[in-house]
Amino acid sequence: MALKTVRNLMIAGGVAVASLTGIAIASGGSVADGYEMVHKHWHWSGVTGTYDQEAMQRGYNVYAQVCRSCHNLDHLAFRHLGDKGGPFYDERYENPNDNPLVKNIAAEYEVIDVNPEDGSEISRPGIPADMFPPVYRNTAEAAYVNNGAIPPDLSVMVKARNNGADYVYNLMLAYDHPQPDSVVTSSGQYYNPVMEGGKIAMGPQLQPQVGVFEYQSETEGQNPPEATVEQMAADVVEFLAWSADPKLAERKSAGMMSMVYLLILALLLWLSYKRIWARLKPKT
Ligand code: HEC
Repeated sequence: MALKTVRNLMIAGGVAVASLTGIAIASGGSVADGYEMVHKHWHWSGVTGTYDQEAMQRGYNVYAQVCRSCHNLDHLAFRHLGDKGGPFYDERYENPNDNPLVKNIAAEYEVIDVNPEDGSEISRPGIPADMFPPVYRNTAEAAYVNNGAIPPDLSVMVKARNNGADYVYNLMLAYDHPQPDSVVTSSGQYYNPVMEGGKIAMGPQLQPQVGVFEYQSETEGQNPPEATVEQMAADVVEFLAWSADPKLAERKSAGMMSMVYLLILALLLWLSYKRIWARLKPKT
């Protein structure tokens, strides 16, 4: 009888501890307040998965038309867009500097340069060799325009956050989640359960009405999927995943080649071992 009571008490204690730690984890982690992270199966997951070129092109369009008003792509030059494995790669133009799509994209941006004649500052259309120019002249201007918050560089964002692709995807979609009373947002702040602490100084970016903006892929003859918020979020993540790790496809194919090489080597070694030792009879 006494033993049974002790056992029941232990079970009850265990449940209490488990639920307390559960609460602690839920409120201490970056994803809280009952928000369920959506884990997507990305094109590039798995051993052989690589980025989908059309999705990257659409994702670039989302970046250019929405995110670009605030976020830089600090580590990217226009020519990278036309590199092998990149969103606008075209096998007819092995050198991305010759790729007309890349040239057109570069020319849409204003680049600050120095006049070679007199050293004065000039502004000229971009060329493929240019880096993506910064949106703001400096961080002070970035903070001034954005209520004191500085929009971070997006080119390596997917690598900079844990489970970055799912993180950015969910960050885009989680604004609808009901705000609990425990999180108090001040002006210029929005509730987003994916963000650490639940508060972010960036408003919802992908709203359904944004879907009316031009959302064409550059690939000829294909029908782009409907520009739902989920689709745009997934596509911009595909583009940002590539910009954070553009060599992924190359690395995976090199990995596969070395596996094949090692397998052949192992087979040859095994066959020569068989041949060399064939004449020796096992001792009885
Ligand atoms: C109107 C300006 C603006 C636009 C447009 C904008 N953002 Fe932001 N974004 C911000 C600001 C400001 C922050 C910093 C928020 C903070 O620190 O609270 C931010 C932060 C972020 C972060 C980092 C969150 C973190 O974990 O620190 C990501 C990711 C992000 N934005 C993605 C995007 C994407 C993708 C788009 C386009 C679909 C976009 N943003 C469009 C202003 C903007």
